[in-house]
Amino acid sequence: MQSFDATSRTFVRAEGTVLVDARGQRVYDAVSSIWTIVHGHAHPVLIEAIAAQAARLDHATTLGATNPVAESLAQRLCALTGLDYAFFASDGASAVEASLKMALQYWQHRGAPERTRFVRLIDSYHGDTAGAMSVSDITVFKTRFGAVQFESIPYERCADAQRDDVAAIIVEPIVQAAAGMRVVARATYDGLKGCTPLLIVDEIATGFGRTGTMFAYEQLGLQPDIVCLGKGITGGILALSATLARQHVYEAFLGDPSERKQFFHGHSFAGNPIACAAALASLTLFEREATLTRAAAIAARSAQRLATLAVHPKVRETRQAGAMIGVELRESASGWSVANALYERGVFTRPIGDTVQFVPPLSSTDAEVDGFFDALEAVLA
Ligand SMILES: Cc1ncc(COP(=O)(O)O)c(C=O)c1O
Repeated sequence: MQSFDATSRTFVRAEGTVLVDARGQRVYDAVSSIWTIVHGHAHPVLIEAIAAQAARLDHATTLGATNPVAESLAQRLCALTGLDYAFFASDGASAVEASLKMALQYWQHRGAPERTRFVRLIDSYHGDTAGAMSVSDITVFKTRFGAVQFESIPYERCADAQRDDVAAIIVEPIVQAAAGMRVVARATYDGLKGCTPLLIVDEIATGFGRTGTMFAYEQLGLQPDIVCLGKGITGGILALSATLARQHVYEAFLGDPSERKQFFHGHSFAGNPIACAAALASLTLFEREATLTRAAAIAARSAQRLATLAVHPKVRETRQAGAMIGVELRESASGWSVANALYERGVFTRPIGDTVQFVPPLSSTDAEVDGFFDALEAVLA
C-alpha cells in the first residue's frame, strides 16, 4: 500500500466498453471492471430500468416481506437454471456464506448434524468473508486470517466428498478466475458426479454468458443443489447476488414455527428493487442483443489471436474458457508493468500475479478484441 498508487486510474465516467479517467484518457475496460459489466457501461436500457424503478419503489426490505421485482427476478432465474427458489443478498461473498449456512442447516434438519465439513477444489476462490475464505484455496488471500476460518477439505478424489461428515462440496465451474483463469480438467467435475452430499456451484464469476453458455455448469452436465450468482447478474452495474436452491433444500427448512427451522440469515439490501429491476432488464438484453452469440464471436476471435501468443517467447501459457482469458507471462513480477504499459495504450486490465487477464464486456466488437491483442503484442515486443 505504501508504494502503490491507484489514483492514476481515477475513473470519472463510463460509456459502452470505455472508462474515462480524471485526466480525460479513455481506456477499454478489458476486465469488465472485474468480471461484472456484461452489456457495456451505462447501457440506456439498464439506466432507464433503474431510473423508473427508483421512482416507483427504491428500497423495501425483504426481511419478512417481499416486492414484485424481486419475485419476478427469482422466477426468471429459476426458469433459467432449473432450480426452484432464490435467496438474495448484495455481493458474491454473501451469496457463498448463505450457501454454506444453508448446507449446514439442511443436514441438521435431515437428521445428519454431523455433516459439518466442506470440500473445496484446489486453487479455488469464493470471496473474502470468513466462510468464503475458509472454502477458498489460494493462500495469499487467507493465510493471515486463520483465526476466523474453519478448515475445509481439498478435493483429490471422490472419497474426499463421500465422507459422512461432509455437508457439501463447492466448485467454480470450468474456470477459476481468481486463480488467473485456471481451466479445471473436465475429469475433476466428472469425478464429482454421484459422490457429493450437496453440490454448491459458484457461478459468481462465470455466470451470465462469460464462458459461452448462460451458466458454465450447463456445459459440465452438473446437477447442483445450490447455485451462487453475483457480479454480472445486474448486467454488472449494481450490487446484487442470489443463492438459488432446489426444492429438496427449501423443503428441509419447512416446519411448525415452534421448530424454528427457518433460515436465520438476511442482509439489509437483499432483493433491492432497483438492483432487481436492472437484473430483469439485463436478462431482456441477453435476448434482444443476442449477447450469447456476441460472446461466442468474442471467444472465437480471441482463440485465433491466442494461437499466436501461445508460442510467443515471453508467454508461458495461454488459458481460455469462452470470454475468460489469461495470458501468463514468463518473466516473474512482470504483470503490473505490462498492465501499466497497456493502460498508456488505452487498455485497462488488472494482472493476477504474472497473468494478464482479458475478460471483456460481452458487448465488445471484434475490432475491440483485436485492439486488446494488438496492444498486448506491442507491449510484449
Ligand atoms: C468465483 C467467485 N466467487 C465469489 C466471489 C466473490 O464475489 P464478491 O467480490 O462479489 O464478494 C468471486 C469474486 O471474484 C469469485 O470470482
